[in-house]
Amino acid sequence: MSLFHWKEEYSVDHSEIDMQHKRLFQLADNLHTAMAQGKGNAALSKTLNDLIEYTKHHFACEERLMQTHHYPEFAKHKVLHDELTTRVIEFQKGFAAGRTAMSIELLQFLKDWLSHHIGETDRKVAVYLKSKAA
Ligand SMILES: [Fe+2]
Repeated sequence: MSLFHWKEEYSVDHSEIDMQHKRLFQLADNLHTAMAQGKGNAALSKTLNDLIEYTKHHFACEERLMQTHHYPEFAKHKVLHDELTTRVIEFQKGFAAGRTAMSIELLQFLKDWLSHHIGETDRKVAVYLKSKAA
C-alpha cells in the first residue's frame, strides 16, 4: 500500500486546504512510485521538483489565508513552513549535486511531517477560520 494515502481523518474541514493537501499527498506518492519503479535521476528530480513547487504554492496560500484573517499564531506557523521548505531545498541541492540519494527515509520524513502538520497545525488554522466565518 502506498505510503501517501489520503485518509478522511486528514480532513481539516476546509475545502480549499483539503484539496491542496490531497494534491500534496498525490505528488509525494508520485515520488514514491518513481523511486519504487527505479526511475532515473532525471525523472526523480522532476518529480521532486513538482512536489517542492506545489508545496511552496500551498504554503503561500495558507499564509495568505492566515494573514487575511489575522491568525494569532501566524508567525509560529510560518516558521514551520520555512523550516520544511529550507530542508527540502537543501535536499534537492544535494540530490542535484549527487551528494544525497533519494531514500525511503526522506519519504518517511515527508510523510511524518505532512501527517503531523496537517493533523495538528493546519487543523488549528481551519478551526480558527471557521470561528471567524461564523
Ligand atoms: Fe501549514
